[in-house]
Amino acid sequence: MKLFNYLLKDVRHKIEYYSRFSPSPMSIKQFLDFGRENACEKTSYMFLRKELAVRLANTMREVTLLPPNLQSQPSVKLVESWYSQSFDELLEYETRSPEDPHTLNDFLDILIKIRNRHNDVVPTMAQGVIEYKEKFGFDPFISSNVQYFLDRFYTNRISFRMLINQHTLLFGDATFLAQPKHIGSIDPACNVAEVVRDAYETAKMLCEQYYMMAPELKIGEFNSKTPKKPIQVVYVPSHLFHMLFELFKNSMRATVELYENNSEGLPPVKAKVTLGKEDLSIKVQHMPIFAKT
Ligand SMILES: Nc1ncnc2c1ncn2[C@@H]1O[C@H](COP(=O)(O)OP(=O)(O)OP(=O)(O)O)[C@@H](O)[C@H]1O
Ligand SMILES: [Mg+2]
Repeated sequence: MKLFNYLLKDVRHKIEYYSRFSPSPMSIKQFLDFGRENACEKTSYMFLRKELAVRLANTMREVTLLPPNLQSQPSVKLVESWYSQSFDELLEYETRSPEDPHTLNDFLDILIKIRNRHNDVVPTMAQGVIEYKEKFGFDPFISSNVQYFLDRFYTNRISFRMLINQHTLLFGDATFLAQPKHIGSIDPACNVAEVVRDAYETAKMLCEQYYMMAPELKIGEFNSKTPKKPIQVVYVPSHLFHMLFELFKNSMRATVELYENNSEGLPPVKAKVTLGKEDLSIKVQHMPIFAKT
């Protein structure tokens, strides 16, 4: 028991220590530059063993600031236990030299283990909030604070996983499976319309399963940089896919629910991809009934 308390104190001390550092912001350009120029696994290891611990510690400290009644919900406790276990596993590497032949391989394995452990964080945390709301009701002040926490928590999770994915894709065994032109999870020439179509097709399958019908897609592209050429950007295709998939689900549902009894069928969903001087925008819109396009 004494040993357990000692260890617990030690871990708390470490969380306190690492949470005093701010996470280092990383741009897509930095990821690309690192991945392109003979990426060095040892450098990546030295950076990640601290950076990931810093990020986990910061998130765990934010969780401790949640209302106690929310923190004590079983699902929130479960998520917390995943974070502390992963943090604990990372600490083992604090003192392991990158020159030791086993270190880099063990680190790869542990990153994959951590990524898998955190797969269900989003629905489990959401479940925790539902449990809390069922027991304690809806308080607008607490709700907006929880919303603020969740936005940060989920955003942090995306960047944490992005760091893990870059390392495992660049240095893991699965390198040969990855897309040859990709730098880790980043596609330096991501064809936006292709991702739009993919996301639409996936949402369409769901929509057909649920409603037995689905609207068609119309894609429009406007490329102000190189007119008439397909729009390509440097991006993480899976992130773009997720965002579009959510928008298509919403748009298809609205279309079906508004027009399912319409004798002329469903109007299409329109996606307009525009590349301007500085930004790319994608507008997903369900068309007013049979407007001329
Ligand atoms: N394209 C749209 N047209 C009309 N209403 C919309 C549209 N998109 C969203 N909404 C409304 O906004 C609400 C919130 O959308 P949101 O995507 O956040 O959640 P949801 O679609 O209800 O659930 P989930 O996305 O988790 O399946 C929807 O329930 C719907 O009422
Ligand atoms: Mg939705």
